Amino acid sequence: MSTIANTDNWPEIKAAAEAALPANVVAFIASVQDSVHRESHLIAILHLVQADSGWLSQDQMKAVSQLAQIPLAKVTGVATFYHYFRLQPRGRHMINVCLGTACYVKGADKISQRLMDNLGIAFGETTKDGMFSLESTRCLGTCGLAPVVMIDEQVHGPVTPGEVSLILEKYLKKDKATPKV
Ligand code: FES
Repeated sequence: MSTIANTDNWPEIKAAAEAALPANVVAFIASVQDSVHRESHLIAILHLVQADSGWLSQDQMKAVSQLAQIPLAKVTGVATFYHYFRLQPRGRHMINVCLGTACYVKGADKISQRLMDNLGIAFGETTKDGMFSLESTRCLGTCGLAPVVMIDEQVHGPVTPGEVSLILEKYLKKDKATPKV
């Protein structure tokens, strides 16, 4: 079977791919390169990339494809199939809506809808201004406060749909007062 590694300019392609990835990912790919089931390591490779960068960029997925000798379509297919892989950078604030049972019966779906409406994004997305990313999570262990929304490290609850914009506003105001350096 012919692979990209057989092309004349493979050394340049390899060097560029290695430069696009963290050193531990390059080392891990090298360590599994001769394994019979090379593709079975793809999820582990993507996890390592995301652990370092917080998300998976197109350039990184291309570099993984080249170094690991796995078709790009397969790499992007896996990255898009599993919801825990992020294909966009994280926003400045990470919003996690609890969809555990206690929160769900207390109206977490309405809170989710209000957040999506206010931010103009769906779960797994980041607002265009890079301020907020929206995710869902399971029980945060604070069921007594249901329904609960966690923003960064802070738990808010019980949250009503009417409070959603006020909470977001608070973060925007705080950021204006202390701009990122
Ligand atoms: S179910 Fe939401 S905090 Fe437990």
